[in-house]
Amino acid sequence: MKDSKFLKALNRQPNSIPPVWFMRQAGRYLPEYQKIRKNYSNFLDMCKQPHTCAELALQPINRFDLDASILFSDILTIPDALDLGLAFQEGEGPKFSNPISSPQDIKKLIPFDLENLNYVFKAVEETKKQLPEGIPLIGFCGSPWTLAAYSIEGGGSKDFKKTKSFMMEHPDSIQEFLEILSQACYEYLRQQVLSGVNALQIFDSWADLLSSDELEKFSLQHTRTVTKLLKADPVTANIPIILFEKSPNKKLKEILFQDISCISLHWQEDIKSVSQDLNSQYAIQGNLDPKVLLKSDELIWKETQKICNIMHDYPGFIFNLGHGITPNINPNKVQIMIDAIRQ
Ligand code: CP3
Repeated sequence: MKDSKFLKALNRQPNSIPPVWFMRQAGRYLPEYQKIRKNYSNFLDMCKQPHTCAELALQPINRFDLDASILFSDILTIPDALDLGLAFQEGEGPKFSNPISSPQDIKKLIPFDLENLNYVFKAVEETKKQLPEGIPLIGFCGSPWTLAAYSIEGGGSKDFKKTKSFMMEHPDSIQEFLEILSQACYEYLRQQVLSGVNALQIFDSWADLLSSDELEKFSLQHTRTVTKLLKADPVTANIPIILFEKSPNKKLKEILFQDISCISLHWQEDIKSVSQDLNSQYAIQGNLDPKVLLKSDELIWKETQKICNIMHDYPGFIFNLGHGITPNINPNKVQIMIDAIRQ
């Protein structure tokens, strides 16, 4: 594992060719994924089969020879373990049958129990068994804020109106919920590490719902609680942490903190100015706009090489997309992107 280009980059060591993996690399754009997905109506039932998770995590590795693998699961397993009743039905986003609607719902939450997530840890073990030697496995969770937003909203939403009114009406109660989620995220990531993951990524996908001041109060302080607990724990102290923070309202320099090894840039960020700002203090992962993969081969080649050229001398660069790959992308286009990186 010492020679992994991905782990080297996370430690800000140089690589002549940047490592590459990408968000949602196992997913609906792959015909081999669709073939397995057809057997399940609820996506979560598929996540509860460790052997299937391992097979799905390996699909993009086998097809593209990527430099890192990511656990096949979802960020919403934690609220599901708190009994909020998660389901993903055909063609729909996530839905909770038992969302958080009042402060009482938070008071009467069942205690978080790692036992309910054993299927995830088994998936980690199974994936590690099957991965080629030298390919690290990334574990992950949602940020406490992003998990709270889904849990209160009851699913995805354009404007997260329910979550915003809950924040205004019950500020103390939502803080209490965020603390419960922070502790759960720490325990969950710790057990993923004990099961075999080599790096961790925290997804704050809904940071952009918050203004700059709110971001600190509702999201960042809780993410810092999670990473502080991880760094204070001998089991996880040396595991690099990547943060995906979709927060156009705040400069990344003001967001980042010591416990983070790497920032995963959203495609709207300007990688050149971020890399100058961060001055090699953090590894950088990113950030091709996934929509570029719908364009011509020439344009994919050009935009990919543009990022590689900008980051050529940056000591901790990992090529990634600036958000998850979407189901409408042709895998052959992904191959062009990878060839452009490795040429
Ligand atoms: O390769 C991988 O990245 C696989 C593991 C993975 C999934 N989801 C599998 C998945 C990871 C790391 C995630 C993270 C995740 N899940 C995030 C954070 C990243 C981001 O995109 O901002 C979020 C917000 C979720 C919540 C979620 N899961 C939504 C909103 C949806 C439905 C919409 C969609 O994009 O499909 C999911 C479902 C989901 N999670 C699928 C996969 C492969 C598709 C399910 C299907 O086949 O029906």
